[in-house]
Amino acid sequence: MHKRAIIVFLVGLLVLLGGAAVYLLTEPATSVTRLPSQAGSGTPQIGGDFELLDQSGATRTQADFAGRHMLVYFGYTYCPDVCPTSLSIMSQALDLLEAETGSLEDRVVPLFVTVDPARDDVAALAAYAEHFHPRLVALTGSDAQIAAAAKAYRVYYRKAEDPSVSEYLMDHSSFIYLMGPDGGYVSHFAHNASPQEIAEGLKGFLRL
Ligand code: NI
Repeated sequence: MHKRAIIVFLVGLLVLLGGAAVYLLTEPATSVTRLPSQAGSGTPQIGGDFELLDQSGATRTQADFAGRHMLVYFGYTYCPDVCPTSLSIMSQALDLLEAETGSLEDRVVPLFVTVDPARDDVAALAAYAEHFHPRLVALTGSDAQIAAAAKAYRVYYRKAEDPSVSEYLMDHSSFIYLMGPDGGYVSHFAHNASPQEIAEGLKGFLRL
């Protein structure tokens, strides 16, 4: 009987652990605060070429930004809080830094990539981008183009299923990536980093 109780206990434990694993895997990625592959395994494989449309309707690829660092943020214009905050923090960080160094137009490009191309067309992005840094490049594309860009940057996104709301939300990871002049991953900032922290980080990475 005793042995049997232990087996029952172990089976129960496994079920609990399985449930916890499923919960962790399905939890919206907006709560993730660090990248899983960051610790000790070298530079994460993040980034890669993309082909998207900017807010003027022009096709943009990674090659257009070669030689400059890119600050890349994935989000969507209907986002009620995290995205606009992140984009304004990114803009403020650049403003802070440029107040000190002068224009960094030839050194850093801020980019916003939508994860909601169904609503974020070129016109929507043009209107939205005006709220942020004057050099912000806002990008959209077909579902396949967005999926490819998000995959390259290891960005998770998913339509939040809530039939009670008329304007759906998107779950999405929200890192501000710093990419190097060759398009390779350099570092990332949390979406809730302060403008000062990001400005300081940029200063170090760009050796300003
Ligand atoms: Ni958002």
